[in-house]
Amino acid sequence: MPDPVLILIFRLILSFVRQNCIVVNKKIEKILNKQIEAEAVSSHLYLAMASWADNAGMNGTANFLYVHAEEERMHMLKLVKFVNERGGKADIPSIPAPKQNFDSLTDVFSRLQEHELMVTNMINEVVFVCLQEKDYTTHNFMQWYVAEQLEEEALARNILDKLKMIGNDKGGLYLFDRDIETFQVVTKAPAKP
Ligand code: FEO
Repeated sequence: MPDPVLILIFRLILSFVRQNCIVVNKKIEKILNKQIEAEAVSSHLYLAMASWADNAGMNGTANFLYVHAEEERMHMLKLVKFVNERGGKADIPSIPAPKQNFDSLTDVFSRLQEHELMVTNMINEVVFVCLQEKDYTTHNFMQWYVAEQLEEEALARNILDKLKMIGNDKGGLYLFDRDIETFQVVTKAPAKP
């Protein structure tokens, strides 16, 4: 059983090191915290879309979006751990309730694509600030997100193209809902936080 006094001393030392050996600068810490919030908002939005699809009987689409919401949470977690490991402080944001109802699958995936384009712009801004601040470690870390966004944008485009072809054809929509679970984001970088 570890001695509680030793644990306390260890925690005090860790806190001292964190406060006095800041590796990540404040500008980078701030923009990474903004990115943490964006990933949390993404996760929440896709979870709301999943719940809507589940409720509308589109189980394949719901499962796809449940998985996607979880992936966004992993993107957030990866950033939280990185900021803290580099001596910064990751803040966990409060998230406003996302949109709960959607007009159609096309509405869902148009919004998803629009959201991903916004996230890509934010990631580009992080990369830009990293170069300005000569923070090459964070710049290197962010390359995983750059690659991920490429894949996510391509996937959203691909899905919207399919939905455009299907239009209002009920049989087509049935097959889309059956097959969507096989659509994957394929990122070359390791996915674990
Ligand atoms: Fe983590 Fe889809 O942006």
